[in-house]
Amino acid sequence: MATIMLLNGPNMNLLGTREPEKYRSKTLADLTTELNDVTKKLGHKLISEQSNSESELIEHIHSAHRHKVDVMIFNPAAYTHTSIALRDAILAVNLPFIEVHLSNIFRREEYRKHSYFSDIALGVVSGFGEFSYVLALQACSQFIAHKEQQKAAAAAAASAKQTK
Ligand code: DQA
Repeated sequence: MATIMLLNGPNMNLLGTREPEKYRSKTLADLTTELNDVTKKLGHKLISEQSNSESELIEHIHSAHRHKVDVMIFNPAAYTHTSIALRDAILAVNLPFIEVHLSNIFRREEYRKHSYFSDIALGVVSGFGEFSYVLALQACSQFIAHKEQQKAAAAAAASAKQTK
């Protein structure tokens, strides 16, 4: 069982009432409950955090290894387009992550088309509403399975070398 951290940035606490034509009408609490169920079915554990503050988001990223997080699903929200500090935090702790957006940021205003995260993410899911997160969870599950296979292959190779 692996641990996946779900981290949501500023204003995501207002999901459900916030510009529903762009961000749909599900609350963050409902979304998190649903994603918890999906994660359980995939055989993993979900830790969910949301903050409106850049420094708190950085602290959550720094705490990932302490909480044995294997991979993160990150919606940096507006910080997507502005935060070198959050980018540096992820690089500093070398945390694999998938960037997620409810809306398709490439179909919106020019200033939303640039992300400080896409080029260091495992992948990006943008534009499928709440389903963006489900797709990201499925991708996390594949990533975890692949990592476990690699670990098992390395262990088998090491023990074959020892018995030679
Ligand atoms: C968002 C897109 C961002 O541009 C915006 O600032 C958000 C939400 C999304 O999920 O579509 O707050 O990350």
